[in-house]
Amino acid sequence: MTNTMWGGRFAASPSEIMEEINASIDFDKRLWRHDIEASKAHVAMLAATGIVSEPEADEIAKGLDRILAEMEAGDFKFARELEDIHLNVEHRLTELIGPVAGKLHTARSRNDQVATDFKLYVRDEIVTIEAGLAALQLALATTAIETADAVMPGFTHLQTAQPVTFGHHCLAYVEMFGRDRGRFADAATRLNECPLGSAALAGTSFPIDRKMTAQALGFTRPTANSLDAVSDRDFALETLAAASIAAMHLSRLADEIVLWTSPQFGFAKLSDAFSTGSSIMPQKRNPDAAELVRAKTGRIAGAFQALLLVMKGLPLAYAKDMQEDKEPVFDALDALRLGLAAMAGMVGDLTIDAKAMKKAAGREYATATDLADWLVQALDMPFREAHHATGKIVALAEAKGADLKKLTLPDLRSVEPRITEDVYTVLDPARSAKSRKSQGGTAPTNVRREARAWIKRLEKGGLSR
Ligand code: ARG
Repeated sequence: MTNTMWGGRFAASPSEIMEEINASIDFDKRLWRHDIEASKAHVAMLAATGIVSEPEADEIAKGLDRILAEMEAGDFKFARELEDIHLNVEHRLTELIGPVAGKLHTARSRNDQVATDFKLYVRDEIVTIEAGLAALQLALATTAIETADAVMPGFTHLQTAQPVTFGHHCLAYVEMFGRDRGRFADAATRLNECPLGSAALAGTSFPIDRKMTAQALGFTRPTANSLDAVSDRDFALETLAAASIAAMHLSRLADEIVLWTSPQFGFAKLSDAFSTGSSIMPQKRNPDAAELVRAKTGRIAGAFQALLLVMKGLPLAYAKDMQEDKEPVFDALDALRLGLAAMAGMVGDLTIDAKAMKKAAGREYATATDLADWLVQALDMPFREAHHATGKIVALAEAKGADLKKLTLPDLRSVEPRITEDVYTVLDPARSAKSRKSQGGTAPTNVRREARAWIKRLEKGGLSR
């Protein structure tokens, strides 16, 4: 059928394939709530400025409410031939209230309409995602308090480096997700200008009140330039960029869960609730949720790339290319929301094997730096010399097949004769961790203090330190 919205100019219907490539309703129907909300704000403004009469506006608003109710009840019939959410709503409004429905589209265009709807949608999503990030932070900070004393090997290059505490490791992620929340909050602030009233691209000759619609929809102010407003998708890109970085953080933690729960590491276990079995190998316990969270980074970062390339090189102002903005955003934010919830679940579910971690922390000469530091402090050796002497002691331990703390005093003195019994106090991994009280260091006292501070902040809805 000919689209009645432009039936004046068009005599024939679009080809089937034209309809298929052109229609966005299959995905943009997700904007229904925001589309109605924006239309209601628009019609109230049209009445307040005298562009339509109060009774007309009233009729239109009531019609929109009915459509909203139909949609909430799942009774609304979305039609492909009506292309998108905006035309579906307007068509139904005409069915319900007749020709007066046609007055709703005065002083606006689908271009400013879709920009407004999409902003409202993304703004709501950011609120949900921020809450998901905060919930994950809380789960991690809670675990951090419980595991403030649990010593584990800290790694660089995934090689045992120095003893750290598991709580400290958890708090590292709390910091990352805190920065993610900052990025989303930042995007939300910049997003919050209302495009409605920019019309197709040039503004309108009707005496509209853009401040009124902006305020009604919770925006800080109207956008400043109509050409920019209808063709800007920075808010979606910024949100996807923030989502990509958050997903990257999730993937790192997910990967560590995969490592920790492997029999080779044996640092932690996920319960049945977060594990899957194998259809052939009865002994297997697989961390599928962690692997899927790790993998979702691909589609989320891919969505950012996709939209960036849709926007690249587009001349001002609107072009239909921009209809391709929605699916990547829907898909990426769905994936992120799910990933955050799954990760919070896994963090709460994880039981660590403190013994296994501690044992691993004592292997691979993890306290070698502590030994070098002791030589510096007790014997006033320059650090480079202490590093060299410690290297020799490690080689000796290696030759003897012993841990550092298993070397005898004569062994140690064969390398550095001034070493005393006191050195053994620093060769223990737990003591090593305890001694790292510098600001931001891994000491259990630090971890408990930082975790408590975060929990307090999170309970107050706070973001930064
Ligand atoms: N469905 C369109 C989109 O998502 C709405 C805007 C259409 N505007 C236009 N001039 N064809 O971008």
